[in-house]
Amino acid sequence: MDDMVGASSAICAVFDKIAKVATTEMPVLLTGETGTGKELTAQAIHARSVRKQGPFVPINCAAIPETLLESELFGHERGAFTGAVQQKRGKLEAAGGGTLFLDEVGDLLPSLQVKLLRFLQGGTFERVGGQETLHVDTRVIAATNVDLKAAIGQNRFREDLYYRLGVLHIHLPPLRDRGGDALLMAMVFLQQAVATTHKAVRGFSAQAIDALRMHSWPGNVRELSNRVRRAVVMSEGEEITGQDLDLDGEDRHATDSLDSLRAAHQRIETELLVKALTLHRGNMSRIARDLQVSRSTLYRKLKQYGLEKITLALTQPIATTKARRKPVGISDTGKNSSMMTKECSVGTPLESASQVSS
Ligand SMILES: Nc1ncnc2c1ncn2[C@@H]1O[C@H](COP(=O)(O)OP(=O)(O)OP(=O)(O)O)[C@@H](O)[C@H]1O
Ligand SMILES: [Mg+2]
Repeated sequence: MDDMVGASSAICAVFDKIAKVATTEMPVLLTGETGTGKELTAQAIHARSVRKQGPFVPINCAAIPETLLESELFGHERGAFTGAVQQKRGKLEAAGGGTLFLDEVGDLLPSLQVKLLRFLQGGTFERVGGQETLHVDTRVIAATNVDLKAAIGQNRFREDLYYRLGVLHIHLPPLRDRGGDALLMAMVFLQQAVATTHKAVRGFSAQAIDALRMHSWPGNVRELSNRVRRAVVMSEGEEITGQDLDLDGEDRHATDSLDSLRAAHQRIETELLVKALTLHRGNMSRIARDLQVSRSTLYRKLKQYGLEKITLALTQPIATTKARRKPVGISDTGKNSSMMTKECSVGTPLESASQVSS
């Protein structure tokens, strides 16, 4: 639940918002492309709220047939419809004292939008077929990957509900807008996958790092996670190769065909840093020694490339799958673990790469 990884300014802004909205009881609207972490964000908000001991109940409005959704959400009384042989509590009630995560809220039928709005305004509702007005203390976090403003324009979504839900709004940026986060996450996912498969994979080849950096990730974090887990299974050596990742270049970022000298230099430095961070699990002394730079130069470079928080992710103990990690970016401490048992070398001193910089 607390597994949000990221160090880019875009995701750090999200972490800040999560911390802020978690202290309130108001509804939250999460928007973002598929796989950007909306559900994980909802869980993170719940886990940081006063409701954390209560239930977190997800319901996907798009995955449930329209005819069943009202009863799933609000419950029904016995005999409310054919097959309603006994009274049933809905997800809204099940989430009492906790949080209801209303996924794909844009798919809610207009009649249910009215019912939801009424609940958000007064905390009351009726079960399907019920006369009694019920009250439940449930916080609602809604998510959508469709443009609700456009849906309002087409009269498919109520404007009043939109404003009620979206007082607190968090937009999850696509992975392609999160700078070095794809690499950072790739390393974390790699360590997680290695811990569960017991393979001897230790890092990514330079070519694989290039592929990770260049891909535009239309499926966002979910795609990245799946690619890395698959690559670990497919890999035969100590490094994940470009082939293992199977990123064929179709979805590459549009970039200039020729790197400037400065851009090439920065690319090489980033690659070396990422490689060293992976190999040495964020152990700064070893990294500095391997790259033949002082620790202060190392910290400066990590900051320059937005990688300084990477160590938090890498030094969390994830040798067992049960281990819980704090989100990088929200977490405040990162203790060095002694996971690294074998000395290894990145090979190229950073200073020799730095010589081309101006
Ligand atoms: N910041 C993050 N750090 C680590 N893992 C993440 C992060 N964001 C998302 N993930 C992982 O990516 C996958 C997709 O996340 P999630 O299901 O929350 O996305 P979503 O926005 O709800 O997607 P969809 O719109 O398709 O439902 C999950 O496995 C989740 O754990
Ligand atoms: Mg989701």
